[in-house]
Amino acid sequence: CSAELGEYRHFMLKEIFEQPQSVAATLENRLAGDHVLPSLLGAPDALEKLAQVEEIQIIACGTSYHAGLVGRYWIEANTDIPCHVEVASEYRYRRQPPRKNMLFVTISQSGETADTLAALEKIKENHGCMATLTICNVAESSLTRESDMSLMTMAGPEIGVASTKAFTTQLVALQLLMVLLMQAKGADKARVEQITADLRKLPALIEQALDLNPKIEVLSERFIEKHHSLFLGRGELYPVAMEGALKLKEISYIHAEAYPAGELKHGPLALVDSEMPIVTVAPSTGLLEKLKSNLEEVRSRGGELYVFADREAHIKADDSLHVLEVPHVPELLAPIVYTVPLQLLSYHVAVQKGTDVDKPRNLAKSVTVE
Ligand code: G6P
Repeated sequence: CSAELGEYRHFMLKEIFEQPQSVAATLENRLAGDHVLPSLLGAPDALEKLAQVEEIQIIACGTSYHAGLVGRYWIEANTDIPCHVEVASEYRYRRQPPRKNMLFVTISQSGETADTLAALEKIKENHGCMATLTICNVAESSLTRESDMSLMTMAGPEIGVASTKAFTTQLVALQLLMVLLMQAKGADKARVEQITADLRKLPALIEQALDLNPKIEVLSERFIEKHHSLFLGRGELYPVAMEGALKLKEISYIHAEAYPAGELKHGPLALVDSEMPIVTVAPSTGLLEKLKSNLEEVRSRGGELYVFADREAHIKADDSLHVLEVPHVPELLAPIVYTVPLQLLSYHVAVQKGTDVDKPRNLAKSVTVE
């Protein structure tokens, strides 16, 4: 039964290791030979609706919000549809200028988060969108009941308060949505075929990332005496850095801040010294060279760097720069695969600090009141 710990010491670790299965389950029966099946949205006219979409608004809270931020990079890189992302607690209280043919997307593990539900109610009352869609992990939840379409993540029950497998399956769902939008808008078939073929490789790539576990456990010792940390990324890896920082804060109580690496010089560089570990996600993708020069900025100021990168990134380790090698992955899959080592890092730091990993202080799994 998935609600039992089995061989694992904590639900969080079990859920991190379940990710190859939960990602496979989220893809199962949803990919045809070379495309994504529109039936996964549970509405017979889904593809016709998506064909009309001219704008997307994503609303979520916490970890689910970070998934939405990655989704925006993907959707805008692969379709001509502008995509906005906002936390529900802000969106619900400000005026929304009317928008034409907008798809309103909520993302939520529980489907019960009060602010996200309130944002959905508001848009429905104001007739502010053409359709509502929820990416959700609980089939009978309020969000799935209240939305026109549902794209279910198949993570199974998530017990640890710090979200792990729900996040990676939300990212998979966002890729499926992106491909459906591409299909609805008549995108290049070869590109769609390539993305669906890559998605099939994902469970095995996550398995490989999990193999880093023993190395990350050793590395985590360097964090337990620290009070602050910085997480860096660029492009769609920036929200991955945000999620990595959130995980560390939530369960180890170490202050962690994420920054888009290009912004370092506008403030955080002033904080850099040997007491501030700086975690960076650096796959060999388009922005790698820019990121490397950002790392130099940190190094020349005495910062201690922990870089997750593939061999192709050619980042050389030395006394103050530690490299953890992540398998090489197709660019679109990097945010999903690079999330895994950051989850493991926060887990091991928390275990070594002796915190209540599955039930961190002051936090709830699902925030159903405002
Ligand atoms: C709480 C949980 C987080 C979660 C957030 C949003 O803060 O502790 O893990 O990301 O709520 O929850 P949802 O169920 O809407 O994804």
